[in-house]
Amino acid sequence: MKKIIGIVVLSISFLGFSQGNTHTQSGGKFEGLAMTPPMGWNSWNTFATNIDEKLVKETADIMVSSGMAAAGYNYIVLDDGWMTKERDANGDLVPDPVKFPNGMKAVIDYVHGKGLKFGLYNCAGTQTCAGYPGTRGYEYQDARFYAKLGIDFLKYDWCNTKGITAPEAYTTMSNALKTAGRPIVFSLCEWGDNQPWEWGKPVGNLWRISGDIYPCFDCEFKHPENWSSWGFMKIVEMRKDIRKYSGPDHWNDFDMMEVGNEMNDTEDKSHFAMWCMMASPLVAGNDFRKMSKETLAILTNKELIAVDQDKLGIQGFKYSAEDGLEVWVKPLSDGNWAVTFLNRSDVAKKINFDWKKHIIKDADFGYEADFNKTVFKLKDLWKNKEIGNTKKNFVSDLVAHDVITLRLIP
Ligand code: GLA
Repeated sequence: MKKIIGIVVLSISFLGFSQGNTHTQSGGKFEGLAMTPPMGWNSWNTFATNIDEKLVKETADIMVSSGMAAAGYNYIVLDDGWMTKERDANGDLVPDPVKFPNGMKAVIDYVHGKGLKFGLYNCAGTQTCAGYPGTRGYEYQDARFYAKLGIDFLKYDWCNTKGITAPEAYTTMSNALKTAGRPIVFSLCEWGDNQPWEWGKPVGNLWRISGDIYPCFDCEFKHPENWSSWGFMKIVEMRKDIRKYSGPDHWNDFDMMEVGNEMNDTEDKSHFAMWCMMASPLVAGNDFRKMSKETLAILTNKELIAVDQDKLGIQGFKYSAEDGLEVWVKPLSDGNWAVTFLNRSDVAKKINFDWKKHIIKDADFGYEADFNKTVFKLKDLWKNKEIGNTKKNFVSDLVAHDVITLRLIP
């Protein structure tokens, strides 16, 4: 036994030595950085690696001038493609001097100057998914680099990770960030392959739960290299049963949004409503410079955002599904509930919901709504309008792929 401990200690100190760690290592994530689901913008869905200083500045400007920031969006995150293909002679990452001619610090200062926060991307493997230098073996050095730059958010991906295990790799980076000393939201992005919801809570503030999103309602997009991207309802369906693992400071992340990209406004509305019902991080993935007023209205719907950001932090669940008409519910603080009627089918549907025939029970978190015992006022969150109460049936038409979201107030 002694021998084994000796070997473990030796290999840990060797690892530390190889990364130039002469300091004491601190463990555990920075607590309390994401008590409600993080909100912001990420470059990947629209721009892939075509990112630069101008894009960041214009996005930051519009985040403020459009009302997005006032609605709660505050992180600007640069995804893959911000570095050069090689580290420098010291082993440091190098922001691409063509894309960022004034350096990354200038970009970050600009974003901070707007009252916003800034995030970067890297990967636990030897290379990022787009082939830039990964962090494997450089965890403490990269963490110090980020802390010095002054970033506020790190998305940490899972490509090129052969031979390493996810809980260890993410814990190492989490410890490195903690040791570097700057509070940085740690966003785990290993696609749900190794059930991060089971081990991620002490490690990070949010974790992706699926492969990449695709801008469609319910499709699977098969890539030739043998992996799939998923329509937003595929992701919701895939991970609706891990809700008990999500909560304040440890969120199930349903991926960056595709609102304003290739779907129509009806589908975008449903996409946004479902992200709010799931208490997902709300990270826009569209081009703000071309944003329509409809897209902006969806993304800044304050009533829906309040559902997402509710302080209980409970991920909603599917209460019922009949003939393509689904009812999703989410317990909110002060005894409120959010209820979303979703037309999952391709044809128009009629809703006729007799509240008194239903008792909604949340088995994971212990909430209950019994409409025979309690009358709730109803507010339509898309119309921002009170529409009666649960004594009467809720009757409405719903076109294909549309939603109605109500707040129930006792
Ligand atoms: C993976 C992630 C995406 C994005 C790309 C970048 O696919 O899941 O969100 O970060 O890598 O290469």
